[in-house]
Amino acid sequence: MTMADVGASDPRRADPAPQGGEREVVISARGVTVAFGTQVVLKDLDLDIYRGEVLGFVGGSGTGKSVLMRTILGLTPKQAGTIEVLGQDLDKISDQAHRQIERRWGVLFQMGALFSSLTVKQNVQMPMREHLKLSPQLMDELALLKVELVGLPRTAADKYPSELSGGMVKRAALARALSLDPEILFLDEPTSGLDPIGAADFDDLIRKLRDTLGLTVYMVTHDLDSLYSICDRIAVLGEKRVLVAGTLDDMLNFDHPWVRSYFHGVRGGRLFKAVHAKASNESPAKGSD
Ligand SMILES: Nc1ncnc2c1ncn2[C@@H]1O[C@H](COP(=O)(O)OP(=O)(O)OP(=O)(O)O)[C@@H](O)[C@H]1O
Ligand SMILES: [Mg+2]
Repeated sequence: MTMADVGASDPRRADPAPQGGEREVVISARGVTVAFGTQVVLKDLDLDIYRGEVLGFVGGSGTGKSVLMRTILGLTPKQAGTIEVLGQDLDKISDQAHRQIERRWGVLFQMGALFSSLTVKQNVQMPMREHLKLSPQLMDELALLKVELVGLPRTAADKYPSELSGGMVKRAALARALSLDPEILFLDEPTSGLDPIGAADFDDLIRKLRDTLGLTVYMVTHDLDSLYSICDRIAVLGEKRVLVAGTLDDMLNFDHPWVRSYFHGVRGGRLFKAVHAKASNESPAKGSD
């Protein structure tokens, strides 16, 4: 495996289409630069996300993962570049069209996942109130459906966030992100703070939702287990740009100090063995170049 395999041959192309030919790009970032005063956080960044995939987004703390997510969502201004979501350039569409696009994504932020003064049900209904005109009765029914969808008991709907466990808060925040039946789900560190079993359960839930609802999932994570178990592709942020995007195998073969220490370090060593054990059990029919 060489760098060319992961798309480095074309500098404008952050990553190649995954196996299986052309797939629809649902988020496309090109030449994105974001700065706060003199601090340049992202510079000339390119990234594509394909419909139906779970993309794991990693990078050192403070490298700009949350900033990129907020920039894609239009919450943080950029100094240069274009971002297209679902085929629309977000800088060129009307406020009305922007609101239409907002209805098609759901977000679980890293901080402040839920409003503490609202019950779970009221939190889940917030996006509905903002975007839809529904009767209170229908909103109650829909909120309960979302609560059940994320594996919470119906009794959790009338509880306040302070009355829930950490894992339940994450699920409730996920229910809110799913409030409007989005096509794209943005998750910023969804399993941070959960124990390994809680995190694995959450990963299972994300996988099931992706499979049943056909979601595209953009997931910022530090969790190597999540990367291994549910991500179709991984993108690494470093040096203010996407250093590499591809499969876990691509990460393991990519020659960059941070990428190597992350994926081959003590925590990554187990993954490395698992991937290679899996690869050696599969037929060696992979194309060579
Ligand atoms: N609104 C803001 N104003 C000024 N600086 C900001 C703002 N938001 C983020 N930054 C800075 O941008 C940099 C990237 O922050 P960001 O939150 O994206 O990091 P991150 O990769 O998500 O880190 P972590 O893994 O710790 O969550 C940091 O230096 C941060 O201080
Ligand atoms: Mg962050």
